Amino acid sequence: MPLNLPPGEGPPSFPDLIATAGYRAMAAALRLGAFAALANGPLTAPDLAAELRTDPRGTGLLAEALVAFGYLEHGEDGYRNTAMTTKWLSDDGYSTVDRFWATVLFESWDDLEESVRTGRPALDFYAWLSARPETLARFQGMLSGHADHIGPEVAEVVPVGRRLLDLGGGHAKYATRLCAAHPDLRATVVDLADALAVGGRTVAEAGLADRITLRAGDYDDLDLGGDYDTALLFNVVHGRPVEANRALLERVATALAPGGAVVLLEHDEHCADPASDAFARVFSLNLFHGQGGQVYSAEEIGTWLTGAGFADPTTHPLESAPGQSLIVARKTPEE
Ligand SMILES: C[S@@+](CC[C@H](N)C(=O)[O-])C[C@H]1O[C@@H](n2cnc3c(N)ncnc32)[C@H](O)[C@@H]1O
Repeated sequence: MPLNLPPGEGPPSFPDLIATAGYRAMAAALRLGAFAALANGPLTAPDLAAELRTDPRGTGLLAEALVAFGYLEHGEDGYRNTAMTTKWLSDDGYSTVDRFWATVLFESWDDLEESVRTGRPALDFYAWLSARPETLARFQGMLSGHADHIGPEVAEVVPVGRRLLDLGGGHAKYATRLCAAHPDLRATVVDLADALAVGGRTVAEAGLADRITLRAGDYDDLDLGGDYDTALLFNVVHGRPVEANRALLERVATALAPGGAVVLLEHDEHCADPASDAFARVFSLNLFHGQGGQVYSAEEIGTWLTGAGFADPTTHPLESAPGQSLIVARKTPEE
């Protein structure tokens, strides 16, 4: 949690040094299960250590660091979660996001200089994820939770006909919501096999296996078929270089019926809120480092869309997710 230090004369990096150490300490507490253990009530350091099977001295020092950052507080009976920790970090809800980002920042950013120096991604993000099943599950869980949150607003904006293609649709929450709302709609979700394992469970639980087809494979190579009314590319183009996106949008245009709609979900390049703006910039750097992508401006995406044969790209900022927008464009009808 931010310490809100008064502006000082010291090195500008010092607040970031302690914030980074605080985030790392918080991640250790999550990984060790400290917040979950304290959800049952306060514990002294030795009792917390016994619960976590950790070293009592190290546990006490970690707890003190967490007090400094507002994650824990001292009570009469030992350490206890603060109200904000109880709300956000003491169960498997939001803490999934921090467990994912801590792994990204403290493992994959180790060689950040390398990607910046060479201009090439320092890792193959999806192969990296595939080798870390727990992190992959958290990644899909995080996106799936976000889809639950913004789903109602997304469903109002996405134009729907009878056939929907969701490229990189992984957890299948969007296809499931749209099919549930439109009884005549059938959907095909394309993604890598391990992501579709998550999507398969979503589709089965919704009882929509007869209307949603899951196709495992590479959306750059698979025969995508044709005559779709709608194609979704949600959180896809920011993970890829420009030329790969132009080529994929041409494939999407071929797969759509004339007048069909492509809908992209993307982060806004700039946001009015300083925290969202800073997040967009470090997120963009992370996309460059891990995948050769970045957060692209809506204007740039619009030029790719018109170049691929789409008309009137329109941006719909999401009220349910400030800093993210849907971009909708229609395939130009054949003359
Ligand atoms: C950032 S996630 C977005 C998931 C979902 N569309 C959403 O917005 O919540 C990108 C998805 O694209 C999938 N993906 C990445 N490269 C792919 C490829 N070459 N072919 C098919 N799917 C791919 C990933 O497995 C992942 O599920």
